[in-house]
Amino acid sequence: MDNLAMDTVAFSDDTAAPAASPAFSGTLTDKLKEQFEAGLLSDPSLRPDFTIEQPLHRYTETDHAVWRQLYHRQASMLQGRACDEFLRGLQTLGMEADRVPDFGRLNEQLMRATGWQIVAVPGLVPDEVFFEHLANRRFPASWWMRKPEQLDYLQEPDCFHDVFGHVPLLIDPVFADYMQAYGKGGLKAAGLGALDMLARLYWYTVEFGLIRTDKGLRIYGAGIVSSQGESVYSLDSASPNRVGFDVRRIMRTRYRIDTFQKTYFVIDSFAQLFDATRPDFAPLYQALRAEPTLGAGELDAGDRVLHAGDGSGWSDSADI
Ligand SMILES: [Fe+2]
Repeated sequence: MDNLAMDTVAFSDDTAAPAASPAFSGTLTDKLKEQFEAGLLSDPSLRPDFTIEQPLHRYTETDHAVWRQLYHRQASMLQGRACDEFLRGLQTLGMEADRVPDFGRLNEQLMRATGWQIVAVPGLVPDEVFFEHLANRRFPASWWMRKPEQLDYLQEPDCFHDVFGHVPLLIDPVFADYMQAYGKGGLKAAGLGALDMLARLYWYTVEFGLIRTDKGLRIYGAGIVSSQGESVYSLDSASPNRVGFDVRRIMRTRYRIDTFQKTYFVIDSFAQLFDATRPDFAPLYQALRAEPTLGAGELDAGDRVLHAGDGSGWSDSADI
């Protein structure tokens, strides 16, 4: 799972994709409250870092069937669409296709490859808890599966999004380092009141990033690879903008939590992504505070535009 500020997701296939961003929408407290009320956070086995033992005994045959259906659908959809690093990660991990995976078994491979681990969480976790996990190479994943009627639309990230979407790339050494650096950066940004800007970076890379390869544009963002509809839209539709990656630009760009994205940012390599997170962001945050934000679908003067979206089908509702 991802934390609220970064990535509360509504993955939709046909209409909406992603996530809420309670850090700016002010719903973090509400969401956590909801979880408390639902008893999700009052489980006596909940540890202080919001993790639990993955309750394997609680998965039903329906949960496994939903996993199986989503896995097969996406694994086939993503051939020729997801980047090689993602597809290789899926294979190297030996992620189960027919049952919800046991995190412990995936962790054996992950630990050997990059020292990352998946930790099970019952739902959303507070920002700083999330960052602390990432900074220590632990990826918090929701243990529960969406219901059969939620195959294409879900408001919060479930096990399929978190594990199928996020974990394969953690086996890539450079991306693995980027995620850890992001966690460390999050802890700093929280102290600087800059989570809104850093959240945009997560959004437009980890969740909705595209990468340029010799074979053409490919997907690496978890929000896309776990969504059938957005796997097609992000690459093939004339509607969204596709713009070259630029940290400053991304940190000024608002985004959509209720529809597919209006703009995708395209990296040239994971090394480019990691290098961009090396500098201390404190001066950048300060400088960017003085600049206006950009709407999710706006193009800017300095953009390296790979494709200017025609905006077809964009809804008028507000950007985050
Ligand atoms: Fe996510």
